[in-house]
Amino acid sequence: MCNFFLITALEIEEKCEASDTEKQLAATAIRNVLSVLTHYSESTGRLVCEKRFGPSFVSSSLHISLGRIKQSFVLVDPHLPDIPIVYASDAFLRMTGYARNEVLGQNCRFLTGVDTDPSALHQIKQSIQAQQACSVRILHYRKDKSSFWNLLHISPVRNATGKIAYFVGVQIEEGSVDRHGLSPEMRQLSVVGSIKVAVRISSMSSSSKSP
Ligand SMILES: Cc1cc2nc3c(=O)[nH]c(=O)nc-3n(C[C@H](O)[C@H](O)[C@H](O)COP(=O)(O)O)c2cc1C
Ligand SMILES: *[C@@H]1O[C@H](CO)[C@@H](O)[C@H](O)[C@H]1NC(C)=O
Repeated sequence: MCNFFLITALEIEEKCEASDTEKQLAATAIRNVLSVLTHYSESTGRLVCEKRFGPSFVSSSLHISLGRIKQSFVLVDPHLPDIPIVYASDAFLRMTGYARNEVLGQNCRFLTGVDTDPSALHQIKQSIQAQQACSVRILHYRKDKSSFWNLLHISPVRNATGKIAYFVGVQIEEGSVDRHGLSPEMRQLSVVGSIKVAVRISSMSSSSKSP
């Protein structure tokens, strides 16, 4: 676009047919058009960025990789106080009815309610402490207070240096049918596998960038 206007301006100059007033008018018109274009590209650029990256606590490259995974899951950061959610998938938000800004920074316990079995929570806490994976069937509550049985799988996620960078929680609503006919266990394992690869690759590219 800018080139097009530049060429037009040069042509006017080359032909030397335009009067000074006409040239001035043309120059003013070009400046106006450019300023409008710049204004819009800035504001649409900003919109596009906000939409694509969203408010998130993971790097933008990891965010993009995770965005391709269609299942319900969250990443939590065990190095931050109270182990908050740092990434929530779109499917997680659809399943639970919360908006992204309502869950980021929160501990996962907001999904529990009066009838949630404390022994399931105990099991989760023990496996987090032992840094091990676990699968539990747990009663969860949506934002609208309706409850559902969640087949929850939690697993540590290590980065390229072998350190635990995150824990992932994959949620499958009991009774939901998979398009590919996979069992809940297989679905959980395939999501966890994709996430582990995404985190590892992202930590490799971020470590190779720093000197
Ligand atoms: C990756 C990950 C996912 C978790 N997902 C859930 C969950 O879906 N529901 C839940 O009740 N607790 C979940 N937890 C455990 C909670 O963070 C919390 O420890 C648990 O609800 C017990 O709450 P309390 O610390 O208040 O006792 C998860 C923990 C991790 C590390
Ligand atoms: C791996 O994770 C650990 C613990 O969070 C962190 O200190 C380290 O910087 C990470 N390494 C890379 C390459 O991301």
